[in-house]
Amino acid sequence: MRPPLPLVVLLLIIVVAKPPTVRAEPTQDRAALLAFIGAVPHEQRIRWNTNSSTCDWVGVTCNLNRTAVMILRLPGVGLVGTIPVRTVGRLSQLRVLSLRSNRLSGPIPADFAGLTLLRNLYLQNNLLSGAIPSGLTQLGRLVRIDLSGNNLAGQIPSAFSNLTHLTRLFLQNNRLSGSLPNISINSLVDFNVSYNQLNGSIPATLDRFPASSFAGNLHLCGSPLPSCNPLLSSPAPSSTSRKKLSRAAVIAIAVTAGLLLLALLLLLVCWAIRRRQRGAGQKATKEAAAEAVGRSGETGLTSSSKDDLSGGVGSSSTAPAEVAERNRLVFVGKGGGYSFDLEDLLRASAEVLGKGSVGTSYKAVLEDGTTVAVKRLRDVTVSKREFEEHMESLGKLEHDNLLPLRAYYYSKDEKLLVLDYLSAGSLSSLLHGSRGAGLRPLDWDSRMRVALAAGRGISHLHTVAHIVHGNVKASNVLLRSDPDSAVLSDFGLHPVFGSTAPPNRVAGYRAPEVLETRRPTYKSDVYSFGVLLLELLTGKAPNQASLGDEGIDLPRWVQSVVREEWTAEVFDVDLMRYPNIEEEMVQLLQIAMACVATVPDARPDLPEVVRGMEDIVRRTEGISDDQPSPPL
Ligand SMILES: *[C@@H]1O[C@H](CO)[C@@H](O)[C@H](O)[C@H]1NC(C)=O
Ligand SMILES: *[C@@H]1O[C@H](CO)[C@@H](O)[C@H](O)[C@H]1NC(C)=O
Ligand SMILES: *[C@@H]1O[C@H](CO)[C@@H](O)[C@H](O)[C@H]1NC(C)=O
Ligand SMILES: *[C@@H]1O[C@H](CO)[C@@H](O)[C@H](O)[C@H]1NC(C)=O
Ligand SMILES: *[C@@H]1O[C@H](CO)[C@@H](O)[C@H](O)[C@H]1NC(C)=O
Ligand SMILES: *[C@@H]1O[C@H](CO)[C@@H](O)[C@H](O)[C@H]1NC(C)=O
Repeated sequence: MRPPLPLVVLLLIIVVAKPPTVRAEPTQDRAALLAFIGAVPHEQRIRWNTNSSTCDWVGVTCNLNRTAVMILRLPGVGLVGTIPVRTVGRLSQLRVLSLRSNRLSGPIPADFAGLTLLRNLYLQNNLLSGAIPSGLTQLGRLVRIDLSGNNLAGQIPSAFSNLTHLTRLFLQNNRLSGSLPNISINSLVDFNVSYNQLNGSIPATLDRFPASSFAGNLHLCGSPLPSCNPLLSSPAPSSTSRKKLSRAAVIAIAVTAGLLLLALLLLLVCWAIRRRQRGAGQKATKEAAAEAVGRSGETGLTSSSKDDLSGGVGSSSTAPAEVAERNRLVFVGKGGGYSFDLEDLLRASAEVLGKGSVGTSYKAVLEDGTTVAVKRLRDVTVSKREFEEHMESLGKLEHDNLLPLRAYYYSKDEKLLVLDYLSAGSLSSLLHGSRGAGLRPLDWDSRMRVALAAGRGISHLHTVAHIVHGNVKASNVLLRSDPDSAVLSDFGLHPVFGSTAPPNRVAGYRAPEVLETRRPTYKSDVYSFGVLLLELLTGKAPNQASLGDEGIDLPRWVQSVVREEWTAEVFDVDLMRYPNIEEEMVQLLQIAMACVATVPDARPDLPEVVRGMEDIVRRTEGISDDQPSPPL
């Protein structure tokens, strides 16, 4: 038995789907599908019950108001024979058609030209024959075409160039002949025409693909395959070409040697600089150095604050007792067991961790090896007393998923926060950091756990501490070395900044109403958290310059794709490698979409969101124990 859907999910379906009051049935599409399945022999696995709605049939997915079939997926179900005209070709709203890995034969029906909204066409590994119908090249929305592993013959239509959104064109393992047309599509990422009977030269518009894309065509030539010109590829080149070659070689050698020398020089310089820095005992960061230009600061703090701290030399008008009081680094809460003072902190070697919306963060390594994170706040407008009171109350917060504040420092010029340093980095760097640096894409379970941890942290803030986070974003979700755990940072800081400073300054996470009110609320936290969930699901950064064609924000982009196209299109490609998680992803997507509702009151509360996520985890743990993946 399946437990009932959580309330959040139901709420969200209302928000996104706006289901009709009357249950519709795609009558025309139903007739087309019945005509198809009636004419094509197949295995018993397709048992489309004529008593139930077409939209509930295996392999069929309808649009949200159940008026049309959007997706037909019947891979490997033993379909045999030709695809009759006026069947599948009548599914006029179809976005995805997959009939791959069957034994379909005969031509690709000409009336596929009527599937004008089609995005993905998967007909690979059948016995289809005849030419590629020219009608296919008029389906301007096509993104992926896979016709490989059939018996298709004739020429490859040059009008494929019309398909400006195409990212994949797979035609390998057919009997296509003639020359390769001049297909020029900028978006094309995957292209394969290997193992056909093509001849002639490879056009320049396609030579960016690897040789294996063209292999197995005996008479195809030109880059990336061997040259078509027998002179250039002959083993005994003419004397002029040899001369040219040797000159090129000389130049290449000279350039390489020059580069090597340059690299060596750079290394030497770097080494020298490092030595000098170590000798001085302090490593000023690039950023700190830049800020300290014209000052005497060595750690990135201004000289005035340094004077302030180190005995009040610069502040002649204040009494010594007051000075001592003022220079204090104030530990809050349990203080994390740290024992150091401001002097120690200022002497620490610092390294910029990042420039955030509230200020710059540093990693500070004290002389005794203690490592802490120091946040230097910008634009603090509240008085010292208000600041102190606020920090004292933040310091009292204790929760596994909140990064505790350990200490603060307030002077006229400098406002610092001291926090634990977590070396595992932020969710943002893990999701969007360069793969070259040895980072593996975050797997689904980790994403789910991190999302839950962050959700629990905010939930505690909202329900126990009664504090608005105000700055929920992936770079404020820090990972603990324990992979199950993550903590939130930068919470509840917005009250110390003036109302002029927009809260949640990273636009991609900001709830629409906050633009006007400039005050974050529990509900705006929920919105930001929803964006964070969408980020985990799509792998896209919310503040990424352009999503889709027009630079819309992440929630709007997901909404447009989910409403119009196919849900799976929104998910991170890195997640598509894991089997059997699509249902969970869709459920989390629904929760996320509820959170990013435009109207604040339509958003669920954070504890409700967390419960919905816990349900997903619990349900899948139950399923994976005793139930193998469902058929088809
Ligand atoms: C459809 O419904 C009729 C009566 O309502 C029933 O006799 C028939 O067995 C049902 N068919 C299937 C496939 O369930
Ligand atoms: C169903 O949704 C589509 C868009 O997906 C829309 O064009 C159509 O008018 C809707 N039909 C009804 C009956 O609401
Ligand atoms: C496709 O491109 C050809 C030229 O290659 C052009 O004649 C034809 O009109 C285009 N068709 C569409 C539907 O754009
Ligand atoms: C290939 O097509 C482009 C534009 O479609 C054209 O400018 C170019 O001349 C063509 N090249 C060849 C070799 O036909
Ligand atoms: C390619 O093969 C076709 C026959 O399939 C032939 O007519 C044509 O001349 C050949 N072209 C080249 C460049 O070899
Ligand atoms: C192209 O298809 C062939 C045959 O399936 C395969 O061996 C080759 O790796 C493919 N190349 C690319 C770049 O997809």
